[in-house]
Amino acid sequence: MNQPPKMSALSPPDRLLMGPGPSDVHPRVLQAMSTPLVGHLDPVFLDIMNEVQELLRYTFRTENRWTIPVSGTGSAAMEAAFANLVEPGDTVLVPTNGYFGARMESMARRAGGEIAHVHAPWGQPLDPDDVRAAIAEHRPAVFGFVHAETSTGTLQPDVPALTAAAHEAGALVIADTVTSLGGVELRVDEWNIDVAYSGGQKCLSCPPGASPLTLTDAAFEKIRSRREPVRSWYLDIGLLESYWGEERSYHHTAPISNIYALREALRLVAEEGIEQRWARHLKVASALKAGVCAMGLEMLPEDDWWLPSLNAVRVPAGIDSKIVTKRLLAEQGIEIAGGLGVLAGKIFRIGCMGHACRPRNILLLLSALGHILRQEGARIDVAAGLAAAESALNS
Ligand SMILES: Cc1ncc(COP(=O)(O)O)c(C=O)c1O
Repeated sequence: MNQPPKMSALSPPDRLLMGPGPSDVHPRVLQAMSTPLVGHLDPVFLDIMNEVQELLRYTFRTENRWTIPVSGTGSAAMEAAFANLVEPGDTVLVPTNGYFGARMESMARRAGGEIAHVHAPWGQPLDPDDVRAAIAEHRPAVFGFVHAETSTGTLQPDVPALTAAAHEAGALVIADTVTSLGGVELRVDEWNIDVAYSGGQKCLSCPPGASPLTLTDAAFEKIRSRREPVRSWYLDIGLLESYWGEERSYHHTAPISNIYALREALRLVAEEGIEQRWARHLKVASALKAGVCAMGLEMLPEDDWWLPSLNAVRVPAGIDSKIVTKRLLAEQGIEIAGGLGVLAGKIFRIGCMGHACRPRNILLLLSALGHILRQEGARIDVAAGLAAAESALNS
């Protein structure tokens, strides 16, 4: 028999998480996670479920009855959206302007959907006219778009124009709000989004594991009138209703500690105020952007679709982005990331999310990144970057 493995006590290093997620978790959230478990059907927990739903509605800016945390990471909430809404043979329109549009395509295909594309280059948002044309051509049952594309740092502007185009043609709209919920302006009801999903570990600063999802009654009706059952048992919203709806009976054991964490993270959102939270992200990330540009670096997206929660910065010529991200982590304990797919090696991805989105963190990051880039041979003016960031923070 194998000997029992000998392991030291868990002792992760102290990191500043300023990559594409997870972001730094607020100490109150960590504390909530370490409180004792109650059963997932305990009356106390049933009340906690109601509170989480109420807090989620506030954060999503929605009155949707069907607003829940899905057990699992953002991809679980994403798959719940596509697996339930897409029926075999449905045409699903998905974007080509980033990594997560491609994931939408895989999920919709697995649910039996026929895929159509609306095109835009990586680093640019969808043009509402292109969406309207693609909808007229393909007549999709479902249109998915990414509100905050984490792979390119691109924010989709003018969401109401997209939802209007879809609704005129009778399509339902799924919005990926993983990197926008709780950090960037998002108004599910006012913008007429039918289904929005998110994750905990971005602007909510919660560990991953319980992922927000909200659906309108119209979306729920489409699910209720499906011709065949949802192909996923675990994520079947009709079955999940037995637990999250009126009945409150067993479906699967809820990830209790993750629900505690999400409750505390959302309580922090409510205490700060959602609009104040959007404004904080905008102000702090604007200072980061000002600093990056004054240092001599360039942003990938144009200002009109720059995403405050995820800053895509071009890697200067002759610099190996992997060496820089590795050195930042090893020498300063700061996590940022490189690009994905066609942008691998071409951009740095710097998150400015939730609890990590604070003035002192961006000053620290600008200084550390600037010095490393300079040592690697880039022409960088660290002092100018810090001065620009400070002046933006004080404005
Ligand atoms: C825009 C977007 N959608 C979906 C996901 C998937 O979430 P997760 O990695 O939590 O499963 C991510 C994760 O980074 C994301 O950024």
